[in-house]
Amino acid sequence: MPQKLCIGVAGLGTVGSGLVEMLIKNHDDILRRTGREIVIKTAAVHDLSKKRELPAGVALTSDVMSLADDPDIQIVVELMGGTKAARHLVMRAIENGKSVVTANKALLAEHGREIFALAQKKNVAIGYEASVAGAIPIIQTLKNSLAGNHITSVMGILNGTSNYILSEMNQHGFDFPTALREAQELGLAEADPSLDIDGQDAAHKLTLLIRLAWGRNYPFSRLAVEGIRGLNPLDIKFAREFGCRIKLIGQAREVDGKIEAGVFPALMHHTLLLARVNGAYNAVRVEGNAVGSLFLHGLGAGRRPTASAVLGDLLALARRSAENGSGDNTGFVDPLPDAEILPSEEAVSPWYVRATVRDTPGVLRDIAAVFTEEDISFAQILQKAKENDRVPLIFMTHETTGRAIHTAVRRLEQSGTLLVPATCFRILGSCGDEAEEI
Ligand code: NAP
Ligand code: HSE
Repeated sequence: MPQKLCIGVAGLGTVGSGLVEMLIKNHDDILRRTGREIVIKTAAVHDLSKKRELPAGVALTSDVMSLADDPDIQIVVELMGGTKAARHLVMRAIENGKSVVTANKALLAEHGREIFALAQKKNVAIGYEASVAGAIPIIQTLKNSLAGNHITSVMGILNGTSNYILSEMNQHGFDFPTALREAQELGLAEADPSLDIDGQDAAHKLTLLIRLAWGRNYPFSRLAVEGIRGLNPLDIKFAREFGCRIKLIGQAREVDGKIEAGVFPALMHHTLLLARVNGAYNAVRVEGNAVGSLFLHGLGAGRRPTASAVLGDLLALARRSAENGSGDNTGFVDPLPDAEILPSEEAVSPWYVRATVRDTPGVLRDIAAVFTEEDISFAQILQKAKENDRVPLIFMTHETTGRAIHTAVRRLEQSGTLLVPATCFRILGSCGDEAEEI
């Protein structure tokens, strides 16, 4: 029987319900990775009359402090938001020797100093990966992976709601209120969306990043913060004419031993990676004296992406408290079985094929016949100018296997239709559409 890890979840809104969903969906993977059965004993909400999707046996309460006081609960997961009730809950949980996982950047930006101090005194862990940039693992990256660097700069797009609004205004000409309403419907925005559009949410996150990058408490109240509330669509239009996009940026850098930091809207040339981060995506660029420049990109808000980060923290704590030393090395509890392998020839994608043929009638028909027999369908065909009776033909196919492409090409080479071996490349993403997020 796997050991149980008993948790209490405060909040079943966007993030809390995403956590419950992923705990159920990924149950077997989680068990393999931790050797623990993660069981929600109690979930706390405001309104007990709302309908909730919960596994059998989960108790529902509106008394959030009962999670901190329940001796069976080992980890308190705080997903309520706000700073008042959340602060009481988190401090009491730590006081009672429980580790805490939270997505609450406002709480940690404004009360982080006392929370981390108490956690250190009580020797408990605070997991807060979900508090900055949603699914992007920037907390672990700064805390562990880049710990051997002296960090010189951290900058990024840290608020999904603002970025969504700016992208919709830029790409689809939406007005501000419509784009904001969509962001709210998608579960990106804070309960009070002025935190998003006035830049406070990005500033909360920047405060946490400064703490991690330089080991300094930068008072949140001292950050220069400007949001996008008053943005005029004309500026988005004019910026485009200069090849630029307007983005809400959080930036902190070291200048002569001091930290210069703020949140502000800025123009960025469209060729820069940050300018190409669209929709609910966030990105963070870190500069360090060993790593150089590192760029992380991913969904910065929303139900599942945020639950992903919460789960990462929960699993790390579950592993830490389980008696399974080997799991620390591979990430799994048991010795690893051999992988079942799908040969790459069976992988499916669109393909690019460049064939060199004699420019005579019927060549295209012969190629089309072989491709049809191999069940390959063309998306586009291009014929370039001929050279000495030889003409390059370029085929972009719809999705097919590498096996089908290579069989067709081999047959055409053997039949003498191709004058030289064809050049074949897989196409990743779609060539016809506008590039996706980056
Ligand atoms: P939400 O949808 O508003 O959900 C909040 C949940 O907390 C609701 O279930 C609510 O109960 C409950 N709650 C609020 N106050 C309570 C209290 N005093 N006692 C008991 N229950 C209480 O919020 P969310 O979007 O999930 O965000 C939660 C936290 O994650 C916030 O700190 C937010 O900043 C952070 N975060 C959110 C995202 C995102 O994409 N949404 C991403 C990263 C981080 P009812 O259901 O009864 O109203
Ligand atoms: N409201 C936040 C955002 C949620 O839009 O980025 C993620 O922290």
